[in-house]
Amino acid sequence: MNRQVDRKTLGSYLGSLALLGLAVFAGCDAPKAQFQPNLVYARSRLVESNEDLSKPEVRVQLEDVADILAALMGTPDEPRLPALPDIDWSPLLQLDQLQRAAGPVGSDESGTEHGLYRQHCVHCHGITGDGLGPTAPFLNPYPRDYRRGLFKFKSTPTTLPPTKDDLHRILREGIAGTAMPSFKVLTEDEREALVQYVTYLAIRGQIERALIYEISENLDPGQRLIDLTLKEKDPDLYQEQLDVVLAIAADTVSPWLEADSQMTEVPPPPENWNTPESIAEGKRLFFTSLASCSKCHGDLALGDGQTNDYDEWTKELQPGNPDALKEFLALGALEPRHILPRNLRKGVYRGGRRPVDLFWRIKNGIPGTPMPAASQELTNDQIWHLIAYVRSLPFDAIALPRQHKPSVPRERL
Ligand code: HEC
Ligand code: HEC
Repeated sequence: MNRQVDRKTLGSYLGSLALLGLAVFAGCDAPKAQFQPNLVYARSRLVESNEDLSKPEVRVQLEDVADILAALMGTPDEPRLPALPDIDWSPLLQLDQLQRAAGPVGSDESGTEHGLYRQHCVHCHGITGDGLGPTAPFLNPYPRDYRRGLFKFKSTPTTLPPTKDDLHRILREGIAGTAMPSFKVLTEDEREALVQYVTYLAIRGQIERALIYEISENLDPGQRLIDLTLKEKDPDLYQEQLDVVLAIAADTVSPWLEADSQMTEVPPPPENWNTPESIAEGKRLFFTSLASCSKCHGDLALGDGQTNDYDEWTKELQPGNPDALKEFLALGALEPRHILPRNLRKGVYRGGRRPVDLFWRIKNGIPGTPMPAASQELTNDQIWHLIAYVRSLPFDAIALPRQHKPSVPRERL
């Protein structure tokens, strides 16, 4: 890999940005779609209050972030894939697929259709993939903000990125019990373009966060990530700055390329699985401190245990701190809502109803939410028994009130 070329490419992109900025205002008919900056994260890492965001030394740093992102990843109409040290994009993202999903709805001179994302996703997930589309405030749960690269219903553990198959399954099946629809009506090719575009928006958002983090951790106030004026004055320092930025971007991309190899294997269930004895064992485990399921899902598994927690996206808004929260809301964040454990008696599973889906949910937890990964001490067989119990709950007597004969007469209300 020729690092010199990479530096030059980013350098010349950055150099052309001034021109690019002018072109946007030079008599175009429709305003161009633009990615929005992640001001919530900037506010939480860089400054004490919203007012400080407009201080000249902060503004110059945030403008650098926007310029670097545009140079690396392009715009909503013209996505780009930068040359990065030791990164081969091709198994993950291809520019022609991104172009198909990006841009306004329609087809270009060559007849290639584009705009799939704006046609099908943008009103919920937003042009930037920030989960802030116009429909978003009315939904519960809110649409996913992709910019952390954090996904809930996947086959890989912890905060690792999802596999391509995970995202394809979400698009095919939708997310049961939420506003996220199934896109089975689209062709496989169209879904592939959309999966790639979600990945692209996620990576773009993660690089943005990583650059803001870099400023907050390693730069002094007013110090630049990349200072174009150094190009002539101090080429060595300039190249050093470019190298840091390119390394940050490459570090963001590589886990995505490795996701397939990180998939959690699902062992076969034990022989007595799903028998009355297996269900009883699952029920016993449900209440133990080893599994601690009842702590959140409640003794009757109605989802009424711990109900005052928040997901990771919401925790960033400091929901417990009214003054800070007010400032984040002023920057466009959505009103915080508590995250509720699932009512397991309904038999509605967001991440899919196949036993293998439930295995991944219980083994790895649901990243970004309070639902934890299973303790190391819980064996795979025990997880299978828990799945048998969970799957029996919708058919249990108390979930079917007409068949349930209470031992104590019900009070009249
Ligand atoms: C009507 C609103 C709506 C539309 C339209 C919509 N989504 Fe979603 N989407 C949601 C909601 C709500 C969630 C969050 C569900 C949750 O957190 O359980 C979500 C979550 C997701 C996730 C995250 C899955 C995970 O494992 O975390 C992906 C990926 C996704 N949507 C992709 C898309 C794509 C691609 C499109 C367009 C083809 C689209 N969505 C259209 C509402 C929508
Ligand atoms: C600390 C709280 C907590 C604990 C402990 C917990 N859960 Fe959950 N669980 C949640 C939350 C919150 C959700 C909803 C997450 C979401 O989809 O946003 C959830 C969702 C689920 C789901 C729904 C999956 C889907 O696809 O919709 C299942 C099944 C589940 N939990 C089973 C269990 C089992 C079994 C245990 C014990 C091994 C357990 N949970 C322990 C909080 C918890």
